[in-house]
Amino acid sequence: MKRLFDNFSLRFYFALIATQHTMANRGNFSGRLGFILAAAGSAVGLGNIWRFPYLAGENGGAIFLLVYLCCIFLLCYPIMVGEIAIGRAANSDAFGSYSRLGGKKWGYLGLFGIFAGILILSFYNVVAGWAFGYFLHISFGDLLNHNNFGGFFGEYVNDILDLSSVGGLTNSNLVFSLVFMCLTALIVSQGIQKGIEASNKIMMPSLYVILIGIIIYSLTLPNALSGVKFYLIPDFSELKIQTVVDGLKQAFFSLSLGMGALITYGSYFSKKENITSSAAIISIADTSVAFVSGLMVFPLVHFLAYKLNINPQEIGTSGPPLIFVVLPQIFYEMGPVLGRIIGGSFFLLVCFAALTSTVSLLEVPVAYLVDQKKWKRKRVVWLMALIIFVCGLPSMVSQGMIPALNSLPFYRGQDFLTFIADMSDICLTVGGCLMSIFISRKWGIHNMDVELVHGNSTYMQSRVRTFLHITIKWIAPILLGLLSVVIILEKFFGIENLI
Ligand code: TRP
Repeated sequence: MKRLFDNFSLRFYFALIATQHTMANRGNFSGRLGFILAAAGSAVGLGNIWRFPYLAGENGGAIFLLVYLCCIFLLCYPIMVGEIAIGRAANSDAFGSYSRLGGKKWGYLGLFGIFAGILILSFYNVVAGWAFGYFLHISFGDLLNHNNFGGFFGEYVNDILDLSSVGGLTNSNLVFSLVFMCLTALIVSQGIQKGIEASNKIMMPSLYVILIGIIIYSLTLPNALSGVKFYLIPDFSELKIQTVVDGLKQAFFSLSLGMGALITYGSYFSKKENITSSAAIISIADTSVAFVSGLMVFPLVHFLAYKLNINPQEIGTSGPPLIFVVLPQIFYEMGPVLGRIIGGSFFLLVCFAALTSTVSLLEVPVAYLVDQKKWKRKRVVWLMALIIFVCGLPSMVSQGMIPALNSLPFYRGQDFLTFIADMSDICLTVGGCLMSIFISRKWGIHNMDVELVHGNSTYMQSRVRTFLHITIKWIAPILLGLLSVVIILEKFFGIENLI
C-alpha cells in the first residue's frame, strides 16, 4: 500500500514539475502594468491613427464617434474580457486554449484565428512599411520638398523595387516592409518579458507623449476650432446603418478582438490579477488614442482648408490618402523646419503604434508552434516572419505594379490589399461570434465567472457580471452574426447602397 502511495505521489510530483516546467517555459508578463501596456499596444495601431479618422470623416464625424463609443463599451468590452479569460484559464495558445477547454473540434476555431492573424499581419506590415518609409523620408530626406504629395504617394506604393533615392534614402517599399518585419521579429524573438513587455514599456508612453504634443500644437493653428466642432458636435441626420456597420467593424478591429491575440496575451497573465478592470483600462487606452487622433487630424485638415482657401469637404480625407497625402501637405505648409519636426514625430508615432500591434499579431502563430509543436521560439519567429512577409507580397504589388492585382474582377475591381483587409474583417467578426457561442454554449459561462473571480473577489456580486452574461449570451452572437452577413453581402455583392 505504502509503495503504491509512494509511486502515486512520485508520479504526481513529476507531473507537477512537468507542468511547472512548461509554464515556466512559456513565459509570463511581469505584472499587471506589463500586460496592460502590451494589450493596449496591440490594440492601439494603424487602426486608430490611420483608419479611425478617415472612417469618422466619411461617416459624419461626431455621430460616428458616438456610435463607436457605444460599440466599444456595450459589445467589445465583454468580448475582450471573455477572450482574456479563455487564455488565462487554459494557459495556452489560441489553438491549445480552445481545444483544452472545449475539445479538439473547437481547436479549429483557434486555428482559424491563427490563420486570420497571418492574413492581417501580411497586409498590415505593408502599410506599416509605407509609414516607416515616410518617417525616414520626412525626418532625414527631402520628401517635404516634393509638393505634389498625391503623385509621390502613387509612385511610392506603385514601384516597390525603386531603389533610386529620395534625399539620399532608398525609395523601395520592399526594403521598408522587410525592415519593419525584422524589427517585429526581433522583439518577439526576445520572448514575453524581455521582448514584448520591454518594448511596449518604451513605445507606449512615447506614443502618448508625441500624440499629446502634436495635438497641442495643432489646436493652436488658425481655423483649428472648426475642425474640433465638426468632430465633436453630432449631427443626428447623418446616422445611417452604414455608420453602425463601420463603427462596429472598426471597434472590433481596433481592440484586436476575434482572432486569439488576447487569448495568447491572456495566457501570460498572472492569476492574481483582475481581468475585468484590466480590460476596462485597455479599452479606455485604445479608445482614447482613436478619439485623440481625430482631435489631431481634423484641426489639421481644417487648417489646410483655411490655408488653401477651400472648403474642408473638398479635401479628400477618405482612405489611405488621409495620412499619406493630406497630412504631408499640411506638414509642408508648416515650413521646412517645423514640418520636418512635426511630420517626423507624427510618422514615428505611427510606427510605434504599428510595431506594438505587429508584435501581437506575430506572437499568435509563434505561441501556437512553440506550445503545440515544441519548436524553439527564435527559430519559429524568423520562419513565421519570413512566411508572412512573403504572403504580404501580393498586397504590396497590388497598388499599381501588377495591374491584375490592382483590379480584381471577382471583387468589384478593388485591389488585392483591400480584398485581404476586408477578408480579415469578416474573419474577426465570425471569430468573435463563434467565440461568444463557445463561452456560453460549450465552455460554460460559469467557468468564465470562476476565472474572473481570480484577482477580483467581489466579481460574483457585481453588476458587471450580469452585463457580461447578457452580452456574451445574446447580444454578441446575434449582432456579430448579423454583421458578418452584412459585410459579406456588402463586399461581394455590392449592396452597400441598400443599407
Ligand atoms: N488593433 C490593431 C489596430 O488597431 C491591429 C491589430 C493588432 C489587430 N492585433 C490584432 C486586429 C488582432 C485584430 C486582431 O491597428
